[in-house]
Amino acid sequence: MNKATAIAHSNLAFLKYWGKVDRDLNLPVNNSISMNLSEAKTITTVEFDEGLTSDEIFVVGQDDGVTPSFMRRTTKHLDRVRALAKIETFAKVSTHNTFPTGIGIASSASGMAALTLAATFALGLDLSEPQLSALARLGSGSACRSIPGGFVEWLAGSTHATSYAVQIAPPDHWDIVDIAVAVSQKEKAVSSTDGHELAEKSPFFQARLATLADRLNRIRAAILECDFETFGQEIEAEAISFHAVAMTSPNITSSTLPSGIYYWLPSTLDLMLSTHEWRQDGLPVYFTLDAGPTVHLVCRTQHRDQVINAVLEQEKASSHLSDENWTIFVNRPARGAYVSVKGATYSQ
Ligand code: DP6
Repeated sequence: MNKATAIAHSNLAFLKYWGKVDRDLNLPVNNSISMNLSEAKTITTVEFDEGLTSDEIFVVGQDDGVTPSFMRRTTKHLDRVRALAKIETFAKVSTHNTFPTGIGIASSASGMAALTLAATFALGLDLSEPQLSALARLGSGSACRSIPGGFVEWLAGSTHATSYAVQIAPPDHWDIVDIAVAVSQKEKAVSSTDGHELAEKSPFFQARLATLADRLNRIRAAILECDFETFGQEIEAEAISFHAVAMTSPNITSSTLPSGIYYWLPSTLDLMLSTHEWRQDGLPVYFTLDAGPTVHLVCRTQHRDQVINAVLEQEKASSHLSDENWTIFVNRPARGAYVSVKGATYSQ
């Protein structure tokens, strides 16, 4: 067999990966914790073919071809898999996401996890879950967390082999939802990869690191104990700590941009403050934010509709802040990456 299809879910970090000790290996400064997202999937088919003279990469529905950077990242990752298998055969890759771009959910996480699993499975490489996770990490750091299922911790490690993600709890452990509210579709000015580079230049970077070990333990314990209030308080504080570092990282990627990296828009802050008001009114909901303006509202399933209604009301009330419509995208905890061969599925 030289062909396989793999499916991987993207993930949302509750404790963020921000800053690398090795940018070639994507070794992070700290452990991070995330949840796989049920509706945000990448489905990728890889077929190695002796007849090809180069890799052929297709994104379903993108008829005008893939961007050069997508092509480069994909080919580079295939090279890693080829090196492992000790072959030079090129591959045909066909991939698509079940979620739109620009809504604040990283397609590189699900994309690199699906590519890793499809390519290694197609070549018959028998990799353990930690090995798959470590390999996915080389494509994009956060992709390593999309290999195991449910609630996941990426163990920072100090070498390629020791930096991978493990499951903390399965998807059905806790019925929480992520209500992602994308307040803008505009591309962010500074990519995550550039943000990682600049992070350690913030005067607050070390201060953030000093808090992370305890916070990691509290978030992990809150997940295991399904202690929603502690969990919520911790993930909000963590998101603010991460953005404080970003905002105080000297932005050297452009002389026209502000001196720090501001991922928030006015509507982002508006929603963050609204979240506090909703809580005061008795609705248990907390936010987290990635490297973009999308606000991820986290609540238990029983409060999902109330939160969505509150967001819709807020969109009307704050229409003066932006002329863009908001997009709401709801996700439950999801399984890890898996292979689908002729209808059958093999969980990793
Ligand atoms: C803010 O995994 O996208 O989403 O390793 O350079 O590809 P690279 O970075 P990436 O960084 C994700 C940053 C984040 C936080 C997180 O997901 O932990």
